[in-house]
Amino acid sequence: MAIRTIRTIGDDLLYHRSREVKEITPRIRTLVQDMLETMYDAGGVGLAAPQVGVLKRIVVIDVSEDADSPIILINPEILETSGKQTGYEGCLSVPGKSGIVTRANYCKVKALNENMEEIIVEGEELLARALQHELAHLEGELYVSLVEGDLIDNSQLQEEGE
Ligand code: NI
Repeated sequence: MAIRTIRTIGDDLLYHRSREVKEITPRIRTLVQDMLETMYDAGGVGLAAPQVGVLKRIVVIDVSEDADSPIILINPEILETSGKQTGYEGCLSVPGKSGIVTRANYCKVKALNENMEEIIVEGEELLARALQHELAHLEGELYVSLVEGDLIDNSQLQEEGE
């Protein structure tokens, strides 16, 4: 496994639609493992393949407290959303910043796992937010286009939270 470089806002690759994964090759398995390692190393709760420079429809998410419950989504599709949540959101490709984004509070996704088996993942609140955020990366969309008001520095966010 290896930690890959995370592309940041302004990098052309982040604005392209990613392509479907047709088969799980050793290269894809390595990519998935590297994405997990890169996400954990950066302290994020989600990472999409285009963020490490690969335009493939692969997302990893882990919103658990102990960072020990990875979710791997290949060719994910949103089946259902409902409700609304408004809160601060950040992205490993927009380092040190946060902004207020309104998302669905519930999200249900169909995807393939790393064995190309169909899985359903559903969640509320943070997981729902992460699912919507990461899937948008596969369309070449960053959360900054959805931010209500201005992006703020995370140091400011911590002060507000105190
Ligand atoms: Ni992101």
